[in-house]
Amino acid sequence: AAGEIERMARAGEVVADTLALIGEHARPGVTTQELDELADEHIRSRGGTPTFKGYRGYPASICVSPNDMVVHGIPGPYTLRDGDVLSVDVGVTLDGFVADSAFTFPIGEISPEAERLLEGCQGALAAGIEQCRVGNRLSDISHAIQRVTEEHGFSVVRSLVGHGVGRSMHEEPQIPNFGEPGRGPLLSEGMTFAIEPMINAGGAEVVLHDDEWSISTADHSLSAHFEHTVAITGEGPRILTAARAAVRT
Ligand code: MF3
Ligand code: CO
Repeated sequence: AAGEIERMARAGEVVADTLALIGEHARPGVTTQELDELADEHIRSRGGTPTFKGYRGYPASICVSPNDMVVHGIPGPYTLRDGDVLSVDVGVTLDGFVADSAFTFPIGEISPEAERLLEGCQGALAAGIEQCRVGNRLSDISHAIQRVTEEHGFSVVRSLVGHGVGRSMHEEPQIPNFGEPGRGPLLSEGMTFAIEPMINAGGAEVVLHDDEWSISTADHSLSAHFEHTVAITGEGPRILTAARAAVRT
């Protein structure tokens, strides 16, 4: 329903503003723990709750995944260094609805190859979002993400997927970031998806660390992750977690 999408959009604004705030503070010398505290305070000051905290026992408010870490890194003493790339994932629950978004930040001056990886992943996300149109099929999103990723010479992580999102963070359907086009359910107005390509500069294989959360590339190549929460409308895709020109109130 339209009212529900507006409620999700308000959660999405808090997510977007939290990521913008993190982007302003993610500099060499800052720890990922400091970014987590900043995000937690900001989300609560806006009346939201950090969706990830306590989710299946997850211990923090955001996920922070530097360099060869793909996703689900736990904030801690890691101190950012010039040349790092840092994926940050934020989820907010507000007024009963969830929005979920991720951005990979360059820290200081990054290598041309890292720059290309971030551009490739953002391009893959944009191509997936572009397919969020009434009458398309779910795997049209997956296929577009895979095509753009592989055109850049990068690999799509197979074992992690996007998802439906709404009253809960993870709802049906799962949205793989690869596959043949034209398969799966027809897309219709009012569907809301978290679309999230996770792509590696090297091979697609990933490993789970002993903390049972953080996931890195098996070959230690760099990884990037961009995610938006998107609603399908009669006028096309509506990004509910888009950054706003004028920030924080
Ligand atoms: N965007 C991630 C996902 O969709 C965030 C989950 S992190 C967790 O899976 F800690 F909450 F699990
Ligand atoms: Co997600």
